[in-house]
Amino acid sequence: MIRVLFVCLGNICRSPMAEAVFRHMLEEKGLADQVTVDSAGIGGWHVGDPPHRGTLAVLAREGIPADGLRARQLSPADLDKFDYVVAMDEENLTGIRRLGQSRARVLRLLDLVDDLDDKNVPDPYYTGNFEQVYALVTKGCGRLLEHIQQEYGLSVRRQA
Ligand code: 4NP
Repeated sequence: MIRVLFVCLGNICRSPMAEAVFRHMLEEKGLADQVTVDSAGIGGWHVGDPPHRGTLAVLAREGIPADGLRARQLSPADLDKFDYVVAMDEENLTGIRRLGQSRARVLRLLDLVDDLDDKNVPDPYYTGNFEQVYALVTKGCGRLLEHIQQEYGLSVRRQA
């Protein structure tokens, strides 16, 4: 099993959106039994909360399930447990590195996307722009999945 963890600051806007989008992609491609996905926040302010209503609205419109998403805080154990720890921005990367050594590959979601100058997913908690985040998250998750499929030789068994 390949384990992927998305990380943002509060775990209510960007990383739960990425978790839901990536899980949906895995299910559409028949890869959900080979890759697991979770998300966590650097901070603990929203632990136990559902995603922000802006994230929920975008996911609902796109027909992407958001059931069971609840905020939790990133812990040092996560860095051993997961294969990929995928940050939304540079600040998240600093927060992840502060927790210590990582067995996981730590990267930003947009690092794998070539045609972007800014590799950070802007924080919609402050910008209010959940549409922009959805577009970037979808692009980043698509590239991440391609990368993982190549890295682990996962073939698509079923197309959506
Ligand atoms: P997120 O957005 O990191 O995309 O979940 C934020 C949510 C909450 C806070 C900051 C960012 N906050 O400071 O409570």
